[in-house]
Amino acid sequence: MRGIQLGTSDLKISRIGFGCWQLSPQFWGNVPLDAWRAAVRRAPELGINFLDTADAYGDGHAEMELGKLFADKGLRERFVLATKFYWNFDEGSFRFPDTRRERILRACENSLRRLRTDRIDLYQVHAWDPLTRAEEVAEACRQLQREGKVRWLGVSNFNVEQMDLYRGRMDLVSLQPSYSLLSREVEARELPYCLTHRLGVLAYSPLSRGLLAGTHLPGAKLGDSRDEHPMFSEKALTRLQAGLAELRPLAEAEGLNLAQFAVRWVLSHPALSCAIVGVKKPEHIEGIVKAAERTLPPPVWHQAARAMATAKREACGEPK
Ligand SMILES: NC(=O)c1ccc[n+]([C@@H]2O[C@H](COP(=O)([O-])OP(=O)(O)OC[C@H]3O[C@@H](n4cnc5c(N)ncnc54)[C@H](OP(=O)(O)O)[C@@H]3O)[C@@H](O)[C@H]2O)c1
Repeated sequence: MRGIQLGTSDLKISRIGFGCWQLSPQFWGNVPLDAWRAAVRRAPELGINFLDTADAYGDGHAEMELGKLFADKGLRERFVLATKFYWNFDEGSFRFPDTRRERILRACENSLRRLRTDRIDLYQVHAWDPLTRAEEVAEACRQLQREGKVRWLGVSNFNVEQMDLYRGRMDLVSLQPSYSLLSREVEARELPYCLTHRLGVLAYSPLSRGLLAGTHLPGAKLGDSRDEHPMFSEKALTRLQAGLAELRPLAEAEGLNLAQFAVRWVLSHPALSCAIVGVKKPEHIEGIVKAAERTLPPPVWHQAARAMATAKREACGEPK
């Protein structure tokens, strides 16, 4: 798979990223670990080198499982490793946003220990914390860079004003926003901002948590937090079927299935560096790499966008 340089960093990453949120039992139930481990080992063979995790995924579980795998000789070095800080989950069941200096330094030590590595390639602020000043966050991040524990810095779920506040104080190289055919809010301001300021964009949930793969039928129980998600309600899923039906021939004309098409749609935006797909098993990544072979012709991109915008309005009961 063709790689891409992430923003102004020297990191060369694959256009498909491997997302590790799935090892968060609170959201995804108990994902079988053998299949997940096989997927991590398979990723580099397919050309996928970007691994995205967070300390909060399963309160350390995802990082810990990755760390165990990195005991395999040479596996760690085959990845560009990204993790995140923001949630303080040290106090037991109660978690809260905490980006104070001391907490960031401790969170980084904890991530390094769990991941069994001596450096994080991309350290991301998971979300905007209104309680801690940007100067304080920046100071801690710069210290971690000076110490060689962190190579590059990124943010996630930030808007333009929030990125501006941080960019002036530290050398940011990327934004990680939600972006898919059903989640296009960042097109108006954040994606153009990233293009202007040469920030890499790592899109998360490119399949809308699997919905855009078209495999989940209305009424089926998935046994994870999607069962409570409004877009997975029987009513919403029923209404979204019309949009998916419009996508199918567009995907077939490109020689793709729906999941591949949805990821290619995301990667066709000029601001996009990488689409981070949530993975539970090797089958989730085997086919998806095809999505990154080329971009969609603009008329097809717009037709797909229109089809899902209409379906989403219907699903959410919004006025036309
Ligand atoms: N920064 C943040 O705040 C944030 C938030 C969310 C996610 N993320 C990151 O982004 C990653 C991806 O996001 P996500 O997990 O929300 O959404 P996603 O990639 O849109 O959906 C993942 C789900 O889709 C299904 N799937 C995956 N590959 C597939 C394929 N090839 N064909 C058919 N179905 C497939 C799987 O579930 P089923 O097979 O059970 O349907 C999988 O659990 C996460 O793992 C995490 O690293 C970051």
